[in-house]
Amino acid sequence: MSYWQVVDHRRMLFDQTRNAAYARAIRQCVTDESVVLDLGAGLGLHGLIAAEAGARMVYLVEPEAVVSAAVEAARASGLADRVTVLRGRIEDVILPEKVDLIISALTGNLLFSEDLLPALYYARDRFLKDGGRLIPDVAQLWLAPWESQALHAEHVAQWQRPVMGFDFSFAAHCAANSIIWPSAEELAGARSLSPGACAVELDLTASSTVDCAAGADALVEGDGVCHGLLAWLRLRVGEGWLSAHPLDSRIHWSPAMLPLDPPLPLREGQRVKIELHRPFAGDWTWSARVDDAARRHSTFLSQPHTASDLERMAPDGVVQLGPQGTRAWEIMGLMRANWSNRHIAHEIAARHGMTQERALLEVRTLAMRYGKTF
Ligand SMILES: C[S@@+](CC[C@H](N)C(=O)[O-])C[C@H]1O[C@@H](n2cnc3c(N)ncnc32)[C@H](O)[C@@H]1O
Repeated sequence: MSYWQVVDHRRMLFDQTRNAAYARAIRQCVTDESVVLDLGAGLGLHGLIAAEAGARMVYLVEPEAVVSAAVEAARASGLADRVTVLRGRIEDVILPEKVDLIISALTGNLLFSEDLLPALYYARDRFLKDGGRLIPDVAQLWLAPWESQALHAEHVAQWQRPVMGFDFSFAAHCAANSIIWPSAEELAGARSLSPGACAVELDLTASSTVDCAAGADALVEGDGVCHGLLAWLRLRVGEGWLSAHPLDSRIHWSPAMLPLDPPLPLREGQRVKIELHRPFAGDWTWSARVDDAARRHSTFLSQPHTASDLERMAPDGVVQLGPQGTRAWEIMGLMRANWSNRHIAHEIAARHGMTQERALLEVRTLAMRYGKTF
C-alpha cells in the first residue's frame, strides 16, 4: 500500500462510517487539557477532529508530504495554533511531550498486513502517558468458510483452462495460493457457511505481537462447498466497533478471500479447524481441516521462485551487488560526501556510460527514499 500521493488517501478520507466512529470516540475522550498524537496522520483528519474537540495540542506525525493538506486545513479552520506537524516516521521524530491519546489507523486489511503495528507499539511505549488511551484499542481478525463458485471460477479455476491452446496450469497453482480481494458485487453472490470466529484479538494497549498466529473452529450451519476462507477486520473505536464484514456498513478496510483448491465440501454441524499464519513481513499461510480432509495454501507459492531468488532471500545467503545495486551504493557514498544531486548524476553517468537523465532519476529516487536535508 502506498501513501505518498494525496489520492492514496481518498478512500480513507471519505470513509464516512469510519470517520463518524472515530469522531464519536475522539469527542468522548478529548478535554481541553488533552495532548493528542495522530500517528500516521496522512491528511490529518483525526488530529483535526481532536483539535476541534478542544485538545490543547495535537501532534500529527506522518512521513509523507501529504500531511501538508492537514496544515492547510488547520489554518483554514483556525486550529493552526493547536496543531503541530512532525514530518517523519514515529521512530525518527521526537515529541516534545507525552500524550493522553494516540489515534491511529495502522491495522491492515488482514490486521498484520502492511506491518505498521510496530510503529503503534513504539509510539505507545515511548510517548503515551500512564493511563493514556488509544483509538482504536482492540483489533480482531475473523475467519469463516464461505461458498462462492463464481469467485473460485473467476480467480482460481479459469487459470486451469488452456488460453489460445496454451497450457497455463503452472500459473493456476500460483493463483490458488494468492489472496483474493473480492469486490462488493462478487461477495454479494457468495454465501457464508458459518458465522465464523475471532481467530486473533490484539489488545493494542498492551500487545507487542507482530506475527500472525490465528486459529479458529468454525461451526458449519448448512451443507455447502467451501471455496475459501473469508477474513475480515474488526476494530474497537471508543465504545463502538467497526467491521469489514460484507454485511456490515462498508468501510475502507476490505475483507479478503483465502482460496481453497480444490474446494472443500462441508456438512451442517461439522467443525472446520481454520488456521492463518504469517511471520512479520513474511508470507501468509492458511489451512482448513475437517474430519480427514484438509487444504493448505501459502502466498509463498503465489510466485515462481528460482533457486537464485531463494538463495538471495535466505538468512545465510551471501549476495553480490548487481549493476543497479553498485550504482545505488556509489550514489549514496557521494551523498554522504555532500555532493549535490546534479553532480552525483554527472559522475554516475560518466562512470557507467548512462544518460544524465537516467542517472538523475536514480539519484532522486534514492534521495527521496533515504535522504534528508540539512
Ligand atoms: C492507513 S494510513 C492512515 C492515514 C490517516 N491516519 C487516516 O486514517 O486516514 C497510514 C499512514 O501511516 C503512515 N506511516 C507509515 N509508517 C509510519 C511510521 N513508522 N510512523 C508514522 N507514520 C507512518 C503512512 O505514511 C500513512 O499515511
